[in-house]
Amino acid sequence: MYYLSIKGKQKLKGSVSISGAKNSALPLLAASLLSKNRITLSNIPNVVDVKTLLKLLENLGAYAKMEKDIVQIDTMTVKSACANYDIVRKMRASILTLGPLLARFGHCEVSMPGGCAIGQRPIDLHLKALEQMGAVIELKQGYVVAKAPNGLKGTTIIFDKVTVTGSENILMAAALAHGVTKLVNVAKEPEVVQLCEVLRDAGVNIEGIGTTNLTVVGSYGELLDMQNIKVIPDRIEAGTYLCAGAITNSKITITDVIPKHMESITLKLQQMGFSFDIKENSITIIPADKIDAVDIETSEYPGFPTDVQAQFMALCTQANGTSIIDERLFENRFMHVSELARMGANIKLKGHSATVEGNMDLIAADVMATDLRASSALILAALVAKGVTKIHRIYHLDRGYENLEGKFSALGARIERLEE
Ligand code: EPZ
Repeated sequence: MYYLSIKGKQKLKGSVSISGAKNSALPLLAASLLSKNRITLSNIPNVVDVKTLLKLLENLGAYAKMEKDIVQIDTMTVKSACANYDIVRKMRASILTLGPLLARFGHCEVSMPGGCAIGQRPIDLHLKALEQMGAVIELKQGYVVAKAPNGLKGTTIIFDKVTVTGSENILMAAALAHGVTKLVNVAKEPEVVQLCEVLRDAGVNIEGIGTTNLTVVGSYGELLDMQNIKVIPDRIEAGTYLCAGAITNSKITITDVIPKHMESITLKLQQMGFSFDIKENSITIIPADKIDAVDIETSEYPGFPTDVQAQFMALCTQANGTSIIDERLFENRFMHVSELARMGANIKLKGHSATVEGNMDLIAADVMATDLRASSALILAALVAKGVTKIHRIYHLDRGYENLEGKFSALGARIERLEE
């Protein structure tokens, strides 16, 4: 086991290149199950969650090889349609194989994903939609056992809640369905949009891409002629590094980004007093004279992303005044609060709302990562804390951040990965 050791009170400088989006790479890798040819995906982030999904696809019988940021994948050799518990339990996004496997083989077994630190993470909306498309679904010994021997049927699906992976699962199912599927209240995250574009480029007729209502003309079970893919940049990793520049009041540049995907993040930082030099594929954050407190409410895209809520909470401990953070998407996404408190933060929780006192002088401590984004908030706090902070259980970080200490070191942070 490893931990991160970070010496605080160090300004940052320079620029950092942002990797491909984990949350786009995962559905796109699952979508390879719909392809009749080998495909190459580039700008794939070298993170544990991607490796876990590649292992799952290989277990199903696919050819999957990753070299640097390039993945070659061919699912024509897939023999099994059973995604086993041992791998799925490691990563809930494995549920993204459910739609494609069922659409392609007419039956599949995918282990129920466990919950996780941030919440129960149900998949009822995924299952309800597949049943509406004609699937018969049973839950047996922790597995989703789905059958649609005559294929899935196009129909109208109205999602009771906006669900990112739910939208992606049903999109992939609809691509091979018999007939037209209308999807209402679909997630509009850039990662969902990229999946739509990849399916469209593979010959699927999709209308409404980028909106909350999609019409998908299914291929009646015909596998798709998928093209090579370049994964979009990771707007959440990018937001994390902007927060690192903000919390250390440093001028740094993030490159290989799509600024449009990050407008809610840069707008919130502007409200806190920061300014930006924004170019086509890069953003430079310019220090604030003083950091203003701010109110945050997380919501679906294009609203403020829940995946940077923890990072902003760390930043708010340095603002002038009290900030209120409302976490609207997950019922338990405040696991970072108790760890930040160990470093001297003063944060009060009431239901899904956190009141964050500003002007806090954080002190280094031993802290524990609990989930992917909470862990990155601890790094940000450590960058401004007095002393050397040790962050344990950093396997959470390795799930979604590529070369984390390498990128932070290149920005001048005094960070090391050491063995417990
Ligand atoms: C995706 O998770 C992301 N993961 C999450 O990122 C992200 O936090 C989340 O979307 C919200 O943006 C991937 O894309 C792999 P949801 P997902 O279904 O799809 C409820 C990270 O850090 N819901 O959009 O699982 C659910 O409980 C991860 O990279 C149901 O009730 O999230 C939640 O309250 C963490 N029933 C809300 O909807 C369902 O069937 C949004 O969840 C599905 C979801």
